[in-house]
Amino acid sequence: MNVRSLQRVIEAIPTSDGAGVKLRRSLGQSAWARVDPFLMLDHFSTENPDDYIAGFPSHPHRGFETVTYMLDGHMQHQDHLGNTGDLKSGGVQWMTAGRGIIHSEMPQQEQGRMRGFQLWINLPAKEKMKPAGYRDIQSAEIPVVTLPGGARVKVIAGTLQVDGRATAGPIQGISTDPLYFDIELPAGASFVHPIAPGYHAFVYPFEGSVEVGSAGKRRGLKTHHAGVLSDGDAVELTGCEQGGRIILLAAKPLLEPIVQYGPFVMNTREEVEQAVRDYQSGKLTEASL
Ligand code: FE2
Repeated sequence: MNVRSLQRVIEAIPTSDGAGVKLRRSLGQSAWARVDPFLMLDHFSTENPDDYIAGFPSHPHRGFETVTYMLDGHMQHQDHLGNTGDLKSGGVQWMTAGRGIIHSEMPQQEQGRMRGFQLWINLPAKEKMKPAGYRDIQSAEIPVVTLPGGARVKVIAGTLQVDGRATAGPIQGISTDPLYFDIELPAGASFVHPIAPGYHAFVYPFEGSVEVGSAGKRRGLKTHHAGVLSDGDAVELTGCEQGGRIILLAAKPLLEPIVQYGPFVMNTREEVEQAVRDYQSGKLTEASL
């Protein structure tokens, strides 16, 4: 087994997006801070309503997927297709912007904790202009597996394979074959899992910290730092003294050129300019109406 080691660390920086929602951005803070096909990872976590109440009013996307994982709180999605979706604690919204979607994501609470992630996953060139779509996945549809040793894994996308037992998450069949696990690791507990060689992978502790790598070669990774893994065929994570909670992401890289202008992510400058023109002239979403 060739266990992946910690290759690069991207510290999340405080920023804001939407109408002033405070968040921490690790992936996506600059063009080098991407892990193909993952374009961006935003983490929002606050008890202060002023940090989230303005939400994300109507805005467009083209060329990729947005995945929102709500840890605590309640947001409502509305889009140009007339869809309304409630995103509640423990639930996930998997949205394929494809050719274009215009949506809003607004808080449905005036107090209390709001905590979660938004991840952007790129689409291959041949799928960037497919019709938009989305899925709301309730917390109860996401399997949670407790492993010997105490690790607890929530399987959002891909399949958990431990001791010959497979547990499939609700999201399957995406062409980049993503794995998305939320892993709780008590102090000293380990989590070992295969990841296909060539796939890109990273971890992000959002509570406590974690050690990455096999015994003798472990390196610590602190809260709010994205740890990009080297190539290999497995990942090994170990809970530090206080334990930790981490998301693990892995996927097949696209190895295609990326040209991004805000919420439009295409392969060429011409395609991005087209996206801007389509948005300005009301044609961004035409084919998906
Ligand atoms: Fe959005």
